[in-house]
Amino acid sequence: MSAPYILVLYYSRHGATAQMARQIARGVEMSGLEARLRTVPAVSTECEAVAPAVPEEGAVYATLDDLKHCSGLALGSPTRFGNMAAPLKYFLDGTSSLWLTGELVGKPAGVFTSTSSLHGGQESTLLSMMLPLLHHGMLLCGLPYAEAALLETRGGGTPYGPSHHAGSDGKRQLDEHEIALCRALGKRLAQVAGKLEQ
Ligand SMILES: Cc1cc2nc3c(=O)[nH]c(=O)nc-3n(C[C@H](O)[C@H](O)[C@H](O)COP(=O)(O)O)c2cc1C
Repeated sequence: MSAPYILVLYYSRHGATAQMARQIARGVEMSGLEARLRTVPAVSTECEAVAPAVPEEGAVYATLDDLKHCSGLALGSPTRFGNMAAPLKYFLDGTSSLWLTGELVGKPAGVFTSTSSLHGGQESTLLSMMLPLLHHGMLLCGLPYAEAALLETRGGGTPYGPSHHAGSDGKRQLDEHEIALCRALGKRLAQVAGKLEQ
């Protein structure tokens, strides 16, 4: 049996969501819990295309066991047409065995996203990412307005979860408020998971 951990599970094509994932993991670890960073492979229009078992760089691919044994989950995706990206949805669509056995019931979860435009669907993506987690019986954690950055941000950051405005060229870096809110979600998940496991 491994030590308790928060699973930070994300898809990122160009790296912005991956940066957010690393800040959320930092927040988890600042609260004394282990963070397990995992990604999912891209999906292909070729039905038989298979990705290498280990990605060339970055986090390794998530397994159902990573999800089954986590104490909490942070789920991240780029916004695509106001919704989560297909690779993450594809992974979630493969979790029905965990749903059937209720493995995720009662575990805390939060969501995060990155967009190229400031009003291009951050909230709709975050809210829709919550739906499969509710079906799994997870306990959703947003961000309370006690987080000062939520009122000060000039980029991303919502009460539904951390978000990032990467800009039309994808080059805008996480700003101080976006970083603070990513870390706040990580801390919150670690703290709630700790309390639930007492
Ligand atoms: C197919 C597609 C759809 C997208 N839809 C949106 C959108 O609805 N709103 C938005 O602001 N950005 C949209 N984007 C831009 C991405 O959300 C943005 O570049 C994001 O920061 C990428 O995250 P990543 O660096 O983790 O891959 C879209 C990108 C693609 C490829």
